[in-house]
Amino acid sequence: MNVAKESSALYVPEPAQIIDKEAMTEEETWYHLRLESERSLDHDPGQFVGVSVFGVGEAPISVTSPPSMKDGFELCIRHVGNVTDILRGLDIGDWVGIRGPFGRGFDLEPAKGKDILFVAGGLGLVPLRSVIKTALENRSDFRRVILFYGTRSPDTLLYEDEIAQWDADPDVEFHLTVDMTDDTWKHNVGVVTTLFPRVDFDPKDTVAYICGPDIMFRFVVQQTTRLGIPDENTFLSLERRMKCGVGKCGHCQEGSVYVCREGPCFSYAEVKAF
Ligand SMILES: Cc1cc2nc3c(=O)[nH]c(=O)nc-3n(C[C@H](O)[C@H](O)[C@H](O)COP(=O)(O)OP(=O)(O)OC[C@H]3O[C@@H](n4cnc5c(N)ncnc54)[C@H](O)[C@@H]3O)c2cc1C
Ligand code: FES
Repeated sequence: MNVAKESSALYVPEPAQIIDKEAMTEEETWYHLRLESERSLDHDPGQFVGVSVFGVGEAPISVTSPPSMKDGFELCIRHVGNVTDILRGLDIGDWVGIRGPFGRGFDLEPAKGKDILFVAGGLGLVPLRSVIKTALENRSDFRRVILFYGTRSPDTLLYEDEIAQWDADPDVEFHLTVDMTDDTWKHNVGVVTTLFPRVDFDPKDTVAYICGPDIMFRFVVQQTTRLGIPDENTFLSLERRMKCGVGKCGHCQEGSVYVCREGPCFSYAEVKAF
């Protein structure tokens, strides 16, 4: 596992060029970036980078592409403030700064030979997509792959083409839900936890990877616990205010834990011990 390596990439932003970009929804844009040195980012699924706009600031953003992608890497960014709004206006060919990859990502080792449950809420699909794609590239390492994705409404769906592929793939048990919609919607309506009764689980041999807003974690973990999925086999990615990304500034601290360095991906057993 690729816990952040001590190198200048952690402290000094390297220029990266926008090779491609596309609006995914009204609020989110997908970017394909390539580092100036053309080296591979060499990240683990679930790790994040610091994206800087020169003269404006920096934002922590998860890498959404799998490590197998060697020609650059992908990000998906929701435009919510100073840095992310300026990013929306940048064009193909423009440059940003990249530090990282930072932190501890999701480890797929514990899921080998077992069933995997992915639960993504809203923008949580962005880091989880890197893990999902990695698992599907190594499909024979796992038994069932169950994927729950919940979002606000059909127009907020991310990665619609890939969702259609997962939905059609007989090797993926894909379940989609939105909080609200109209009569034309053929999937579930309700929060993501309403998907749990649709599936028969083998809880002792299931490993769960969960990513979404904090409020979602609380309710999803209630379900995994109720089913009997062990806390050690339930993994979460925590989003906290971050600045340095390397355990120096304390912005991300939970008790004695630096979420940027020791996380952002933790087992639920670890989170309970914070
Ligand atoms: C590990 C990690 C991974 C992330 N991955 C992604 C991703 O893949 N895609 C994505 O769109 N966003 C991601 N975020 C959230 C993203 O970092 C914030 O939206 C961004 O920092 C806002 O910066 P800004 O300058 O545009 O907004 P600001 O002008 O700083 O603030 C705008 C709003 O965003 C809130 N905000 C600011 N910083 C953060 C922060 N670090 N976390 C949460 N809220 C914040 C502020 O309270 C304010 O309401 C991630 C955050 C973390 C910690
Ligand atoms: S973000 Fe600075 S210590 Fe974690």
